[in-house]
Amino acid sequence: MTAASISQDDFLKFQEYFYRKTGIRFEDNKRYFVDKRLVERMGHTGSANFREYFSKLRFDTDGVEMQALVNLMTVNETYFFREQYQFDCLVNSILPEIVARKKDNRTIRIWALPSSSGEEAYTIALCLIERWPGIADHDVEIISSDIDTNILALAKAGLYSARSTMHVPESYLRKYFRKTANGFQIDDTLRGAVEFTRVNLQDPTDVRPYRHFDVIFCRNLLIYFDDVSRKQAAETFYDALRPGGFILLGHSESMSRISSLFQVRKFDDAIVYQRPGV
Ligand SMILES: C[S@@+](CC[C@H](N)C(=O)[O-])C[C@H]1O[C@@H](n2cnc3c(N)ncnc32)[C@H](O)[C@@H]1O
Repeated sequence: MTAASISQDDFLKFQEYFYRKTGIRFEDNKRYFVDKRLVERMGHTGSANFREYFSKLRFDTDGVEMQALVNLMTVNETYFFREQYQFDCLVNSILPEIVARKKDNRTIRIWALPSSSGEEAYTIALCLIERWPGIADHDVEIISSDIDTNILALAKAGLYSARSTMHVPESYLRKYFRKTANGFQIDDTLRGAVEFTRVNLQDPTDVRPYRHFDVIFCRNLLIYFDDVSRKQAAETFYDALRPGGFILLGHSESMSRISSLFQVRKFDDAIVYQRPGV
């Protein structure tokens, strides 16, 4: 079987289906990427042609095949301290503001998604432990989610390449990581600081339990969505945040273009969005 055996019509059917399920729309320029992975799954499932495979995919009641396909289709690029100014903003401005207005001593809840292999959530944990004096007086929960179950397994294992840890300060590497044959593994202090969960941001049933967050990091996911799925994501974030809660997006992503639900807040380190109604 070759990639050529997936016709343009097949591709369009798949494009629509995958978009409805995940919010990700593969345009024509991604054909090679998509076809290659479809052909791989067709081989794996013993499907004679695309039609047979597509039918298995849609009627696969336990979702196992869809998950295997999603795991192949996702782009998991990430690294520690990516867009560091946002972590500075968290520690220097956002957390002090949240703490100042909290009347009770409620736990501070942070949702970092998509987690990919976990570098972002662990960077948050590192910044809180090392750079935020308030950590001594507050309980913090960091939950990090992704749709890709393979990448979540890597995140939980906490195994990283030298490239991924390139921007980790030397002193943190010594303190929180141990050297392995191919890179580094984070220690148990950090590993225990983050809970990883599988969530499809576009699935209302998946996101329903995610509520009462003070901060959401959602960086480099909306770039894969179209305007309709971005708008749906904005509504999900609104519901997931406490009034006054903050959301940080990737540097090429903007909430103002998608939704008017949030206010823009300009801090010294970064521009972030806030759910109104403190
Ligand atoms: C480029 S990574 C971003 C990782 C990290 N936030 C960062 O900025 O470095 C994109 C991730 O989005 C995940 N993803 C794609 N569609 C998703 C969806 N509908 N729900 C949750 N995660 C999704 C992918 O599995 C992938 O790990």
